[in-house]
Amino acid sequence: MKKTSPIFLGNWKMNFRKAETTIFFEKFNQLNSKNNVLDNSIVGFAPPFTLIDHASTYVTKHKCSFVLGAQNVHWAESGAHTGEISAGMLQDFPVRFAILGHSERRNSYGETNENVALRTKAALSAGLSAVVCVGESQKDFNEKKSNFVVLKQLEESLAGILTADLQPKAITELPSLIVAYEPIWAIGTGLSASPQIAEEMCSTIANYLTERFKQKISVLYGGSVDQSNVQELYKEPNIAGFLVGGASLKPAVFTEMITSCIS
Ligand code: PGA
Repeated sequence: MKKTSPIFLGNWKMNFRKAETTIFFEKFNQLNSKNNVLDNSIVGFAPPFTLIDHASTYVTKHKCSFVLGAQNVHWAESGAHTGEISAGMLQDFPVRFAILGHSERRNSYGETNENVALRTKAALSAGLSAVVCVGESQKDFNEKKSNFVVLKQLEESLAGILTADLQPKAITELPSLIVAYEPIWAIGTGLSASPQIAEEMCSTIANYLTERFKQKISVLYGGSVDQSNVQELYKEPNIAGFLVGGASLKPAVFTEMITSCIS
C-alpha cells in the first residue's frame, strides 16, 4: 500500500536563540525553494517557547511551507502554574501541534501518563495536533517488556480521549492525533532502533489505535534518526514519519533526510 506524505517533526528541545532560528529557516528555505520536497511531505518544527513568537513572525512573513509546534502544553486554561504554558496561549500564534509526554519530560520532570492524558485533551480541544510520545527504557527492552510498557503508556496517556475529540477543529496539515514511538535507549544516543524493531512496535501501536479510535492514526518513530538510517526506517509500512531531535537542528541534514524519503 502506498504511504501518504512522510511527516517530519523537528524537536528542537532547549536549543537556539532568535538569530540561530532565522539562520536555520533561511538555510532550510533556500535548500527547499527549488525542489518539491515540502510539497510532498509534512514538515514541522517545535522550537522552545521563547522562540515561538519570533518563529511565527518568520513563518507568516515568508509564507513558509512548514508548520510550527510547541514542546508541551498544560491542561489548564490559565492559573497558578508557574513555568507552564496553556494550549490557549498558543492560539496567539500559528502553532499547529504540541509534543506531549516526551520521555525527557516524563523522566526528568515527573510527567505521568495521567497528566499527559490531560495535556493531550487540552491540546486537542484547542485545535492543536497532539503528538503523544511513548517508549520503553533500556531495562524494559532488555527484559523484553517493551510491548507491555508501551501499550500501558499509550492506554493511560490517551485515557478519556474519544474518537470525537479527533475531529479537526481547523484546517490543518497534520492529523489531530499522532503517536511517536521513541525508545528511550535510542534518544540522543546515536543508537537508532533497527527498522525491524521500530516497525514491530509501530505496527503494534497502529493496531491498538485503529481498534481504539476506529480510524488510522499516524505513528512516527523517533530516536537517533539521521540521514544514514531514515530511508530504511521509512520503508517499513507502519512508520509514517519521524520525530527528530539532534538532526533537526541541521538544515542540510534535515533536508537530506526528507528528500531521501520522498524520492
Ligand atoms: P534524537 O531525539 O533524534 O536526538 O535522538 C529524538 C527526540 O527526542 O525526539
